[in-house]
Amino acid sequence: MSKQFDVVVIGGGPGGYIAAIRAAQLGFQVACIDEWKNAAGGPAPGGTCTNVGCIPSKALLQSSEHFDHANHHFAEHGISAKDVKMDVAKMIARKDNVVKQNNDGILYLFKKNKVTFFHGRGSFAGKAEGGYTINVAGKTEEAITAKQVIIATGSNARALPGTPFDEVNVLSNDGALRVGAVPKKLALIGSGVIGLEMGSVWRRLGADVTILEGLPTFLGAVDEQIAKEAKKAFDKQGLKIELGVKVGDIVNGKKGVTVNYTNAKGEAIVLDADKLIVSIGRVPNTVGLNAEAVGLQLDERGAIVVDGDCKTNLPGVWAVGDVVRGPMLAHKAEEEGVAVAERIAGQHGHVNFNTIPWVIYTSPEIAWVGRTEQQLKADGVAYKAGTFPFLANGRARALGDTTGMVKFLADATTDEILGVHMVGPQVSELISEAVVAMEFKASAEDIARICHAHPSLSEATKEAALAVDKRTLNF
Ligand code: FAD
Ligand code: NAI
Repeated sequence: MSKQFDVVVIGGGPGGYIAAIRAAQLGFQVACIDEWKNAAGGPAPGGTCTNVGCIPSKALLQSSEHFDHANHHFAEHGISAKDVKMDVAKMIARKDNVVKQNNDGILYLFKKNKVTFFHGRGSFAGKAEGGYTINVAGKTEEAITAKQVIIATGSNARALPGTPFDEVNVLSNDGALRVGAVPKKLALIGSGVIGLEMGSVWRRLGADVTILEGLPTFLGAVDEQIAKEAKKAFDKQGLKIELGVKVGDIVNGKKGVTVNYTNAKGEAIVLDADKLIVSIGRVPNTVGLNAEAVGLQLDERGAIVVDGDCKTNLPGVWAVGDVVRGPMLAHKAEEEGVAVAERIAGQHGHVNFNTIPWVIYTSPEIAWVGRTEQQLKADGVAYKAGTFPFLANGRARALGDTTGMVKFLADATTDEILGVHMVGPQVSELISEAVVAMEFKASAEDIARICHAHPSLSEATKEAALAVDKRTLNF
């Protein structure tokens, strides 16, 4: 007789493993199936985020930032560091160890919460009495049944048509995170989040980096003023970003990759590079799920169709994270996972899409929540804006990093905060205050009246809130 569970989660990334833990906390018998393998073929739960996404990219960003500081910023602190060298193999090994700690952490959490973990591929076999039968194909094959199924199978990198990833010369995020030596010339296609983060890593380590972007605007989803400030900083660092290009033939040869493209002026350019990273977005992953067996509805992009509560067209089948609509972010996946587990338990799980923060972990970092100035204009909302530069923040000066600003957008009548946008040092941490404020429907005045520690970068947040009412104290 097959093992029976109340809830089976397919996929052990941030959407899946968090959903499994929350469901177990709520008293359900839970199984989580994940097929990711580590180098030794063993289980590596955590999905894209842990294995080839959020965590390893941040590890490399940290290592490369230390290197950059040692080369370019130590001297101003009176520290001399000659012949600073980067041992790429060691950096990658450290990154792999950070990933392993996270994999092991999830396995520990499964044990602690009594979630049964299956290492293998989960696919629908068909409907069973009161639920579904799921096949698990790992080292062995078995079938399990569940009353409720949560699908969290994530996404994969999108390849350029005709240019498959070989992970040697033409790299997805996977290969980009394990390049064995600093490429002399690195080309990237797509100046979105991955393009900027990965481009930054390898530029800091000495690569000559060119990013080719199809759109004429830089970071179109970001507030224009913030995007402009960030672009200025990236230009100064020597990150070459070409906007409005049309990528043509790509030749993956023995010595590297040749990218033919037309630039914004219409000139034909040939770019030779040792490696090419293609970062042009990601596609929802339902391969191997055998969705047809149960009639699970997918859209034209291959994403699982869900309603606002993450319900699919099938009773008792839910889907969360990158495999459904909405931003492809780990914390969005997690929130949906928690909300679905709570809905299964009859509770009122809720995800507020208006307050999902975004962070780009470049230097300067870029972070935002809520609507941009261009969106407010398009929506015809009357707003007030206030900005405060890090240049006028004492802590930023002490840190030696005064790039960027904090920007508040508040309703012209009610003063309710509609969006907060940041570019500068450690804004990945500062943005949380804005998220909390927006969740509580705070006004800019509320933030302006809260005591912030001195000296701290968070004072720039308070000052930007004051700026909405044109009464900054330090600028
Ligand atoms: P995934 O993390 O993709 O997990 C899906 C899991 O399901 C995988 O383990 C997969 O092997 C498994 N699976 C798939 N099909 C099956 C099956 N049939 N049976 C069993 N298992 C299956 N987001 C952020 O918020 N912050 C960041 O800093 C950030 N950095 C990123 C950097 C990079 C380079 C990339 C590529 C992404 C980054 N993201 C970041 C995005 C983030 O990784 C995703 O949004 C997140 O991982 C989505 O979680 P998920 O659970 O939906 O899917
Ligand atoms: P992206 O959507 O952020 O950026 C893709 C870029 O490629 C866009 O600017 C797009 O205009 C451009 N593009 C698309 N097709 C092109 C073409 N043919 N030629 C030239 N340019 C083209 O996607 P990316 O960077 O691949 O990342 C995928 C997702 O992963 C992100 O959207 C994000 O959800 C997630 N992620 C999040 C991170 C974070 O939160 N810090 C870090 C990295 C990834």
